[in-house]
Amino acid sequence: MSGTKTNIQARDVLNRMKPYSPGKPVWEVQRELGLDHVVKLASNENPLGPSPRAVEAVHKLLTDIHRYPDAQAVDLRAAIAGKYGLASEQIIVTNGGDELITLVSEAFINTGDEIIVPGPSFSEYEFGGRLMGATIRTVALTEDYQYDVAAILEAVNERTRLVYLCSPNNPTGTILRTSDLTELLNALPPSVLVVYDSAYSHFVTEDDYSDGIEFVQAGYPVIVLQTFSKVYGLAGIRVGFGVASPSIIRAILQVKEPFNVNALAQAAAVAAINDEDHVRKTSRLVREERLRLYRGFEELGLSYTPSMSNFILVQLGEEAEKRYVELMRRGVIVRYGAAWGLPQHVRISVGTPEENRMLLEALGAILD
Ligand SMILES: Cc1ncc(COP(=O)(O)O)c(C=O)c1O
Repeated sequence: MSGTKTNIQARDVLNRMKPYSPGKPVWEVQRELGLDHVVKLASNENPLGPSPRAVEAVHKLLTDIHRYPDAQAVDLRAAIAGKYGLASEQIIVTNGGDELITLVSEAFINTGDEIIVPGPSFSEYEFGGRLMGATIRTVALTEDYQYDVAAILEAVNERTRLVYLCSPNNPTGTILRTSDLTELLNALPPSVLVVYDSAYSHFVTEDDYSDGIEFVQAGYPVIVLQTFSKVYGLAGIRVGFGVASPSIIRAILQVKEPFNVNALAQAAAVAAINDEDHVRKTSRLVREERLRLYRGFEELGLSYTPSMSNFILVQLGEEAEKRYVELMRRGVIVRYGAAWGLPQHVRISVGTPEENRMLLEALGAILD
C-alpha cells in the first residue's frame, strides 16, 4: 500500500489565516536559556494568581470529573446574571473569550461579508472573520491610539456584519469613551452587530467608560465579551462569557458545542465571580503598579501610552526587538509588538511589585 495518491485540500481561507502567537511560557524560556528565575509579563494574566475560592471549588469537584459538565452552565449563568442584574437568557458561557469570538463569527458571518476591526487590536477578531471567509476592514486608531469614530462609520457598507470594539484596547490600553460609544451605536445601521470586548474592564479608572452591559440592556445590537482570564485569574482553565439580547444569544447557542466549558472551569468561575476580595485586591494592585511602572519608564527616558488596563505599550525604539530578546535573556518575558505592526514597541503586563522591579532593573541595565 502506498499513501502517495492522496490530494487532500484544506479550505482556501486557511491560506489567509495567520497563526496566533502567544506569549512565551515561563518553562520554555527557563529551558531554552537555562534560567532559574523567569518573570512572565507577556499575557496580561493576574499577578496575584487565581481566586483562592476558585482553587478550593476546583479541589472539591475533582472527584466528580467522570461526569459530563452542565451543557447549559446553569449555575454559572445564574451567578453572572446575579452579579450584573441580567437574565440568564442574555448570557452565553464559553471556553474563554476566544471561543466567543469564533462562535459569533460562525453564527453571523456569511462568506463575502465584511467585518470592521480596529487596528492595532486583538488578533482573534481577524481570525474569526477569515475563518468564515469575510473581508476584514481594518480601521486604524488615531496616532495616539484613540478610536476614530468617523472612520469606523465611513467603513460601514451594506455588507458589514460585525464591528469589533475593544475597550480597553489590547495592546494600546486606550479606551473608547462612553460618549463616543453612544454616538457610534446611534449612527450604525441596526443590521450591524457590535462586539464590545471589555475583557479588561475591571482595571479602568476613567469615569467616561462603560463595560458595555448597559447598552445591551438598552436594546442596542451589542454583544459584550468578558473573560475569567484576567481579574479573576483563571486563564489556564478557560472560561469567558458573552452578554446580549436573548435572540442574539440563541443564534450563537446554535453553533456551540454542547460541553464547551468543562466542569472545573464552571465551578471555578462561580466561585471567582463571587470573590469580591480577590477582584478588589487585583484591581488595586494593577492600578498602583501601573503608576509605579510609569514612573520607572519616565526615569529611563522611555515613552509609553497611559493605560486603562493591566498592560502598558512601551516604545523601545529601533532596537526594540533586540531589547525584547535581551530582556528575555535576563529572565523577563514581555510581548514584542511586531505582530501588531508596532516593531518599535513592546507590551508589558503589570506584575507584582517584585516582578515590576525586576523588569525595570533589567530595562535599566539594557538601556545603559
Ligand atoms: C482583548 C481580549 N479579548 C479577549 C481575550 C480572550 O481571553 P480568554 O480567551 O483567555 O478568555 C483576550 C486575551 O488576552 C484579550 O486580550
